Amino acid sequence: MQKLVLLCLIFFSFFAGALGQTQVNSLLCENRINPTCVDISQPLLSWQLSGNRRNIRQSAYELRVSTSSKLLNQGKELTWNSGKVTADQSVHVVYGGSPLSSGKKYFWQVRIWDDKGQASGWSPVAEWQMGLLQPGDWKASWIEPGFIQDSISRPSPLFRKTFQAGKKIQSATAYITARGMYEARINGQRVGDALLTPGWTSYRKRLQYQQYDVTNLLRQGANAIGVTLGVGWYSGYLVWENSKNHFGSRTGLLFQLNIQYTDGTEEVITSDNSWRSSTGSILNSEIYHGETIDARKEKEGWSDPGYDDHAWSGVQLSSDNNKSILIATINEPVRKHEQFKPVRIFTTPAGEKVMDFGQNLVGWVQVQIKGRAGDSIVLQHAEVLDNKGNFYTENLRRAQQKNTYIFKGNGTELFEPHFTFQGFRYVKITGFNGELNPDNFTAFALYSDMPATGDFSCSNQLINQLQHNIQWGQRGNFLDVPTDCPQRDERLGWTGDAQAFFRTAAYNRQVNNFFAKWLKDVAADQRSDGSVPFLVPNVLGDQSMGSAGWSDVATIVPWNMYLAYADKRLLEQQYPSMKAWVEYMHKQSPQDLWNTGFHFGDWLFYHPDDDLDGRAAITDKYLIAQCFYAHSTQLLINAAQVLGKTADIAEYTPLLQRIKAAFLKEYVTPNGRLVSSSQTAYVLALNFDMLPESLREQAALRLVENIKSYNNHLTTGFLGTPYLCHVLSRFGHLDMAYTLLLQDTYPSWLYPVKMGATTIWERWDGEKPDHTFENAGMNSFNHYAYGAIGDWMYRVTAGIDTKEDAPGYRQIIIRPRPGGSLTQATGTLQTYYGQIKSSWQLQNGQFVLDVEIPANTTATVYMPVKSGNAIMESGKAVSEQKDIRLVSSDKEQSLEIGSGKYHFTAAQ
Ligand code: BGC
Repeated sequence: MQKLVLLCLIFFSFFAGALGQTQVNSLLCENRINPTCVDISQPLLSWQLSGNRRNIRQSAYELRVSTSSKLLNQGKELTWNSGKVTADQSVHVVYGGSPLSSGKKYFWQVRIWDDKGQASGWSPVAEWQMGLLQPGDWKASWIEPGFIQDSISRPSPLFRKTFQAGKKIQSATAYITARGMYEARINGQRVGDALLTPGWTSYRKRLQYQQYDVTNLLRQGANAIGVTLGVGWYSGYLVWENSKNHFGSRTGLLFQLNIQYTDGTEEVITSDNSWRSSTGSILNSEIYHGETIDARKEKEGWSDPGYDDHAWSGVQLSSDNNKSILIATINEPVRKHEQFKPVRIFTTPAGEKVMDFGQNLVGWVQVQIKGRAGDSIVLQHAEVLDNKGNFYTENLRRAQQKNTYIFKGNGTELFEPHFTFQGFRYVKITGFNGELNPDNFTAFALYSDMPATGDFSCSNQLINQLQHNIQWGQRGNFLDVPTDCPQRDERLGWTGDAQAFFRTAAYNRQVNNFFAKWLKDVAADQRSDGSVPFLVPNVLGDQSMGSAGWSDVATIVPWNMYLAYADKRLLEQQYPSMKAWVEYMHKQSPQDLWNTGFHFGDWLFYHPDDDLDGRAAITDKYLIAQCFYAHSTQLLINAAQVLGKTADIAEYTPLLQRIKAAFLKEYVTPNGRLVSSSQTAYVLALNFDMLPESLREQAALRLVENIKSYNNHLTTGFLGTPYLCHVLSRFGHLDMAYTLLLQDTYPSWLYPVKMGATTIWERWDGEKPDHTFENAGMNSFNHYAYGAIGDWMYRVTAGIDTKEDAPGYRQIIIRPRPGGSLTQATGTLQTYYGQIKSSWQLQNGQFVLDVEIPANTTATVYMPVKSGNAIMESGKAVSEQKDIRLVSSDKEQSLEIGSGKYHFTAAQ
């Protein structure tokens, strides 16, 4: 029967497609597919249209929502029926039905009317589940182990609870969080596949819980719950001072299970003083240092109902039973992704046994191997080998990155850690004398499960490797929080790095919810005077704040999120934080000149050995601060315009003019020379429009001259690099932008690629040409900041962008700009509307461009050909095609198009 229904569905959709009927699919609630844990009273709903003709637009929609999927199909007992709404909006439609209840599941579907007034069928049914909406919905109590804990080595506690489910179970939902990290089991089976839960937030103010549908794990009769805790970010070692307990010293558990029986009754099982506690096989677990597991200490069957726990201790209720800071998890959990096998197992010159996984990745190695009881196998992790080919760990500083497994000795044993992760390509094995076989080791990449959205490739293999490295830098540093690096004793949410990389990140993956969650921590950790920390979550304290280019994360990320995803609600929510940051700078700048305080400056810019007179790469830190002050003020004005905050527009527009005037007076000579003649100074001044029109062209020429004086090399650090090529291409120096992109000697993007990098390095010369390393005190081989060039590759080389006044790719710009020696480039981007593609090649003097535009959007395509040259689409002159509008000027030709696939050609 089921098969028949499926066949009918397939047949129907094929038939509908063939008839040219528009279909609706890819339903998202709060930007996720069938999410749980929604704690928003009016969730945002989105869908995509598809069909096999061009120019599909939506003219109206109808949404319906019900608590039962059966009744939904019948259109009965709806919590919301929008009726037919005449609107073209298909992204972020606000739920407008009756109030949503805690813990409930909702089913929904949508149908649309297209531009021809034709109705689609109803979409497939999607669902979401509400989280716990009120603190009072939490019946559970915070619990801690009942035994005296060893506060030095800190073994992971186990918690256990048994109960009888007396009746037939209809459904069951678990709500779990911890002070620390948790892993939960029910009747011996793991609850969900999320790792490192509950994730990292500013724990004193915001603590996430997760929600799991556990109906299938429970049974009528006896059941058992088992939960292990690790210290995690909550009380584990963090920051380079070897300090721990940043959020508290006592780990704890909060657990609630809501069971619905088929007879309509409900039962709630909660963490309380009836639980039991003990320790198990995890002797110690730290994010930086790794995990030690002694399999002999495993309590077999400890999360099964039949296990005898009489020797276990009770538990104690936490003195802090606060539940007011609990929040639903809105971002995707960390999960296991790619798997790697060792590509090589070898003995180093120093005589150590090492395996190479071929990729610098972040995660852990699972071991499946036999050993004698009491023997151990120790895995140490490193990113690189030194110039002699030896295992190199100095750049990890104090982080040990070491997992130790002690065998119980009963055949093949499987080990993997639980509450830690490592950044590595190489693994050194000690303590194990047996033969090392690649089959026994599997490395898993772990990262937040953000959907992949973008890809970029071109005719140059080194650039393709650069793109690969950028994407792996993102994978490895997006474990619930955007971090600087994933391996040394740092792994922190550095704000400067995150703002520099944001736009690239938003091409590669759907980072909307990931950053929406983190931005709330940015706001939560903002000081009362508006200053923004260097790190979020802030574990450095209240004085580590207010650096230009770092703290501007509070304006740069929300605004760029708005451009990428057009979520006005988020902009509205972040607006007070944006404004407070601008106000902070305002207060520091009595003469509209921000020239006080500590600033990191253009972090890690290139230091030439022979600092050339007048062209040193060093940039005045206060000049930088003034540029970012202006930029943040501009972004605040932009946000005020979107949100209709007219009083703020009136206040900040003149302030911005004064900031720029003060900049000119202090940092620019009457002839337009900047007091710092560095690349970054010119890049920031030009990118943020600090100079009057009349001085821009010559400033751009000075930038080009500077680059030439370094023999066509960049010298920029974290703050100048993201905008460098954009400034060059914007001011008519596309050729120089490509020269820099394709440069492969140090300092450049391709130098690390040529040195064999598989991720982006922290420094331009992490490994020097003679294979010695930069200072081990700060030399990460997985730091995404310089990967910010990815944004230029998508936006300029492939040419995919959104119009700022129709953000979220509602109105698309396709403006490929070929250059350098590239003969081909392709960019793709999955948007909330569907896929955009821009793929070009140069063929015998012809420019060939394949474009794909999703339904319910429009695009302007700029052809990079001489303005008089005729443009053809699929072999016919565009002027003859009624669904393409050609706009020509003496400078360029552009085409206005709707959705569909297009094949343009023109002589160059
Ligand atoms: C981090 C950076 C960060 C910087 C602040 C470093 O230790 O790794 O990426 O932005 O400190 O300057």
